[in-house]
Amino acid sequence: MARIKVDLDRTLGEVDRRIFGGFIEHLGRCIYGGIYEEGSPLSDERGFRRDVLEALKPLRMPVLRWPGGNFVSNYHWQDGIGPKEKRPRRIELAWHSEESNRFGTDEYIQYCRTLGVEPYICVNMGSGTMDEAQAWVEYCNGTGNTYWANLRRANGHSEPYNVKYWGLGNEMYGAWQIGALSAEDYVKKAIEFAKVMKLTDPSIQLVSCGQNGWNDWDRIVLEGLARYVDFHSIHLYTGSPDYYRNVFEPHLADKALRICQALIEQVRYNQRIAHPVYVAYDEWNVWYRQRGRTSGLEERYDLSDALAVATYLNVFVRHCQIVRIANLAQMVNVIAPIFTSQEGLFLQTIYHPLRLYAEHVQEIALDVHVDCERFELPPTDDPTPRAQRLQGFGPFDLLDVSATRDADGQTLTLAVVNRDRAQAIQTTVQLTDAHVTHGIAYVVDGPSPNAVNSFEQPKQVDVHSQSLEVSGSSVVHTFPAHSVTVLRLELGA
Ligand code: AHR
Repeated sequence: MARIKVDLDRTLGEVDRRIFGGFIEHLGRCIYGGIYEEGSPLSDERGFRRDVLEALKPLRMPVLRWPGGNFVSNYHWQDGIGPKEKRPRRIELAWHSEESNRFGTDEYIQYCRTLGVEPYICVNMGSGTMDEAQAWVEYCNGTGNTYWANLRRANGHSEPYNVKYWGLGNEMYGAWQIGALSAEDYVKKAIEFAKVMKLTDPSIQLVSCGQNGWNDWDRIVLEGLARYVDFHSIHLYTGSPDYYRNVFEPHLADKALRICQALIEQVRYNQRIAHPVYVAYDEWNVWYRQRGRTSGLEERYDLSDALAVATYLNVFVRHCQIVRIANLAQMVNVIAPIFTSQEGLFLQTIYHPLRLYAEHVQEIALDVHVDCERFELPPTDDPTPRAQRLQGFGPFDLLDVSATRDADGQTLTLAVVNRDRAQAIQTTVQLTDAHVTHGIAYVVDGPSPNAVNSFEQPKQVDVHSQSLEVSGSSVVHTFPAHSVTVLRLELGA
C-alpha cells in the first residue's frame, strides 16, 4: 500500500494563479479559425468564436501571451491596427504562411477583456526595431497627447490598455528565429529595448528571453539582464511515443526550475539586485508528433499526454516559490486543449487536468511525503539530444503528487497522477492534526493510455467524480492505472 502524508503546516509558499496562463500565436488555426472566425454563425459580431470562449472559461486563465512564438520575430504590429480592409497582407516567414493582419493589437486586447485575462505581449526583437517596441508600449499604455497614444484613441480606444507584461523577444537564441542572436548580442540589444520601453511606461514588467533554464544562454542573459527584468522566460516541450518516457519527461521542468532558480539567486546576490526575479514558464506542453513547420501543429493528445500535463502542473505547484507565470502552449488547435472545426469543437484529453487544476488547486502549496513504488526507465538507444535528456534521471515515483490548501486550512486538494501503466495503486492519505469531513475525487480516465478524443468520440477521455467514504485523519483511496485524480477534501480540526 502506498502512503501520502500531509502536514498542513509544512508549507512551500503561495501558488501564483498566473501559472494557469495561456498563449496564442499567429500560427496555423490558433487565431484564424480557432479563437477568431469572421462571418461564422458560431462567432459574435467581432468575429470571436462564442463556443471557444465558453470552452475557455473553465480554464480560468489569468494571463494570455501573444502574438508569438516564432511569429513575432517577423511581426510588425503597426500592420495590425486601423481599418481592417486597409491592413496589409504579408508573407510570414517563421511558419511559411501569410498573415492577413485582421487580428491585431486592438482585437487581442478586446479578446483579453472578454475572457478576463491580463495581456502579455512579446515584442519583435528579430526584424523589429527599438522604435517599434517603444511605439507599441506607447500605443497600448500611453496617456499623453502623443502620436501613438492618439492613434489608439483615433482607433476608438480612449482608455489606455495598461498592458503590464512585456516579453523581450522570443527564443532569440534559435536558428529558426528571424534575427537570431548570440547571448551576448541579445543582452546588449535587450538592454536598449528595455530602456525605451520602461521610459515610455515605468510601470510595465519585463520578461527576459531565456532558453530551457539550464543553458549557458540562461546564465549569460541573467547576468546581463536580471537588473532590468521582473521575469526570466523559459520553454519546455516534452513527449515520446514511449508511454513511460512521455509521462516522466515533464520532470525536466523540475531540473529547469531548480537550476534557473539557482542562477537567478547567484546573479541577484553577486549584483546586489534587490527586486525579485521570477520564472515565466511561458511555453510548455507535450509536443512531439506534429513538429514540421508547415504541419499546423495540430497535435492529437491521448490520455498519457493528460498525465504528462498534470505532472507539469504538479511541478509548478511544488516550485511555487520561483515560477510565477506559466503559459500553456498553445490554446486552440495548435498543440492545444481545444480543437475546432467550422461546425464546432471538442475537448482534447489535456483539457481535463487543466480544468480540474484551475478549479481546485488552493492557494498554499504543501510539502508532502510520498511513499510508493518507483520506476526506472531503461536506457534509450536513440542518440538524439532530445531522447537523451532524461539520462541520469530517476527512478521515478509512480505516483506524482501536489498538495495545496486554502489559507484557513479548511480545504485540501491533492492532485495525484498514477503513472503506472497497468496497476491501480491503493494509497493511504494520512493527515497530521486534521480530519476529513467530506471528500470527493475527480478522475480523468479513459479505456487505455492511448485513448484520444475526437469529434466522433468526444468523451473517450473524460472526468468522473465520486464521493468518498471518509472519517478521521486518514483516507484510503485507490488511484486507477494511468489516471489523474484530484481529491478535494474538506477538513475539520
Ligand atoms: O509553440 C510553438 C513554437 O514553439 C513557438 O512558436 C516557439 O516559440 C517554440 O519554438
